[in-house]
Amino acid sequence: MTLRQATALRYQDGQLQILDQRALPGRQQWLTVQSTEHLVELIKSLAIRGAPLIGIAAVLYLAVLARQGLALEALRQTSQVLRQSRPTAVNLMNLLDRINPVLDQGAEQVEAAALALFDEDLALCDAIAEAGLPLIKPGMRILTHCNTGGLPTAGRGTALGIITRAQEAGLGPFVWVDETRPLLQGARLTAYELKAAGVAHRLQVDSAAASLFADGQVDLVLVGADRIAANGDTANKVGTLMLAVLAKHYGVPFYIAAPWTTVDPACPGAGAIPIEDRDGSEVCQLGEQQLAPADTQTYNPGFDVTPADLISGWVTDRGLITDPGAFIA
Ligand code: MRU
Repeated sequence: MTLRQATALRYQDGQLQILDQRALPGRQQWLTVQSTEHLVELIKSLAIRGAPLIGIAAVLYLAVLARQGLALEALRQTSQVLRQSRPTAVNLMNLLDRINPVLDQGAEQVEAAALALFDEDLALCDAIAEAGLPLIKPGMRILTHCNTGGLPTAGRGTALGIITRAQEAGLGPFVWVDETRPLLQGARLTAYELKAAGVAHRLQVDSAAASLFADGQVDLVLVGADRIAANGDTANKVGTLMLAVLAKHYGVPFYIAAPWTTVDPACPGAGAIPIEDRDGSEVCQLGEQQLAPADTQTYNPGFDVTPADLISGWVTDRGLITDPGAFIA
């Protein structure tokens, strides 16, 4: 039985399909991954996105190719190509590092290893939800950024997984959803997931967050992560650092939720985390609509890094971490 079904990814018998996250919330469009180039394009364009899911899609695609009988050298080259598809989320590199040693062991072993990594992520999400539950008090107003639910993981998600777990526990959480410019993962995906889960929420432009803090309307900030360095410095969707500074200023707890596959003990700190530099058209255009003159110079980093001293704690599958010393291998 090889079927694995996540919210935005499906693998069965050597075929990998993904729910195109670019088309959400308007259209539910499933695509079959056709080639390595196709997968790279799907990852770069954020059709497949979120730190855990990128890694899972990459290892499952290696299983697809192994089942098609691709030679070992070509499998290794593909792994190398996939590794370079996006630079910041370390889950991709971590999962490829874990499947690479079995690439020479035959299709069945490669597939079994990929499926085990899928199953592991699902379990990690559940563990994070349990570890984070004690942070949520009844009726808490939680601010989140980007999208961290079922769509970017094999399971229930990370930060959003904790929130939906709190909803199940009857704690009635309320979520302030940052729209998350420029690609609107908050508006398009988090509002969509919270609506489906029946969690009360309101959507605001990213720049409205400061006035929410100033008005005392935020009890907790809970976001995901793309890479946690050995000293606890944490990369996440651009705009996260701004929230951490605000949280510090207004005395609001600021937590990261992430699986251990997001930890990079070889990375000493902020300066060593590669930050994706994305195309300026994402800032200058909204779909077909031109928002700024086409030749406008832009600054469009995909991520920023929050220094460890602004972070109250990291909710992980290994429990709640408050001392970043835990991230040193
Ligand atoms: O560019 P994206 O949409 O892939 O960025 C995603 C994020 O920054 C998420 O917060 C992070 O990957 C965690 S997803 C569980």
